[in-house]
Amino acid sequence: MTRLTIRKPDDWHVHFRDGDILKSVAPFTAAHFARAIVMPNLVPPVTTAKMAADYRARIMAAVKGHAFTPLMTCYLTDDTDRRDLIAGFSDGVFTAVKLYPAHATTNSAAGVKSIDKVMPVLEAMAEAGMRLCVHGEVPLPEIDVFDREKAFIDRVLLPLLARVPTLKIIMEHVTTKDGVAVVRAHKDRLGATLTPQHLLYNRNALFAGGLRPHMYCLPVLKREEHRLALRQAATSGEPGFFLGTDSAPHLRHLKEADCGCAGVFGAPAALAAYLKVFEEEKALDRFEAFASLNGPAFYGLPPNEERVTLEKRPSLVCDEVEVGKLGEIHPLFGGDQVDWSLAPAS
Ligand code: DOR
Ligand code: ZN
Repeated sequence: MTRLTIRKPDDWHVHFRDGDILKSVAPFTAAHFARAIVMPNLVPPVTTAKMAADYRARIMAAVKGHAFTPLMTCYLTDDTDRRDLIAGFSDGVFTAVKLYPAHATTNSAAGVKSIDKVMPVLEAMAEAGMRLCVHGEVPLPEIDVFDREKAFIDRVLLPLLARVPTLKIIMEHVTTKDGVAVVRAHKDRLGATLTPQHLLYNRNALFAGGLRPHMYCLPVLKREEHRLALRQAATSGEPGFFLGTDSAPHLRHLKEADCGCAGVFGAPAALAAYLKVFEEEKALDRFEAFASLNGPAFYGLPPNEERVTLEKRPSLVCDEVEVGKLGEIHPLFGGDQVDWSLAPAS
């Protein structure tokens, strides 16, 4: 198969940042996807409906000329105002809530410290039909960094599913066979997004010939057995698994540093990266389910009506994306040739 026509895909997990970085990176997502769930871990984080509406307006300005809809999320804290949250959801400002365990990742210091404290918010969300996106790691120093997703499943996710029986949860950027198994065991309640980097690489990629800061993201890349389980899940067509790039841009000098930032900037080559996986797994016929159908169905939203054609045509991924005077960002596959491209609109 060298051409594939499908409903236009959505990206169910992206970081756009703000200011000059937003202006430089958001058009890559808007060029390939109809909608995206936008992460709220700005500085300061997006914690109110007003902040989300203002941020959405800045995103719309950055993607002018593209038919693109940003779907906003609220950064959950121990002090989230549930009335503002539910009103923001009813008004169409918020689509979902993001739970970062405090200190789990980039700009998560204001994240959730006590699940007990946020329980009334989670119950209100369940009642309103609002989805919860989780960064599924327990960031305690005594837990090995490669075991933090499994610890989250056992200590946080399973108890949460029992405590709020009607809340629908998305395990963002699932990275382990344990994550795949728990999603399968809780059909309808749990969904999961999968990133291109976790489908393409195992943890060896972090150390290939030397330390590779551009391969570093959180949750960190895992062992090969996990990568294989993720590939099988993504290409299975099962409704619980869908596309979410976790495209997370950081300036080059902040990644190639003594204490480098976590995040892979996947947006420019995201579709090509996923299609490489689906082609290798002989599952191109299931790409539309993963990229365009399962995500909206889990969120209770209609799939996109517009169709796009993806074609096997080599193209070069830009080596860097310039961000004004701030520096540049190195994308996934930057400087490399990829096999799949979006066909020009006819
Ligand atoms: O690698 C990551 N980068 N993982 C996250 O959870 C956050 C993200 C970011 O914001 O840079
Ligand atoms: Zn993320």
